[in-house]
Amino acid sequence: MTRRRYTIEVMHGVNLDQLGRRDPLLYGTLTLPELERQIEGQAEQLELGTRFFQTNHEGAFVEHLHGLGEEADAIILNPGSWTHYAWAIRDALEIAALPAIEIHLSDVEHREPWRRVSVIRDLCFTTISGRGPDGYLDALSQMREELDRVRA
Ligand code: DQA
Repeated sequence: MTRRRYTIEVMHGVNLDQLGRRDPLLYGTLTLPELERQIEGQAEQLELGTRFFQTNHEGAFVEHLHGLGEEADAIILNPGSWTHYAWAIRDALEIAALPAIEIHLSDVEHREPWRRVSVIRDLCFTTISGRGPDGYLDALSQMREELDRVRA
């Protein structure tokens, strides 16, 4: 039997286009295109389709969430520092009404106290942080299981 193919929207927020220039101890050494290629390869193995989006503009991130509609079945998002204070992104994620996973490359729970705050956490069925690029593989397989569960 052919497995159903879902499309996962992978959204990167502010400053994530600068991966490769940011502190490698926190964020690793991959550039964003390299990270996206890795995610795409992992997704293929799970029979998941991917779409990628990055912006440094909060309004563009919000409008992208508004426009998802039928385009994606689920969202994996790393909003960067917007995670910690951007209530407009939280509202837009709620409007998108898709299964979502919050992800961070670094271990936000064990850095500055302000990074422990997430305005999106309770809209996401799980949060993954501190696992670097490998966290995305976890996110993809957890999302695959979640979609199989909710669409069963
Ligand atoms: C980040 C963590 C945020 O606190 C930070 O502002 C980022 C990246 C991460 O992936 O670890 O830009 O989301």
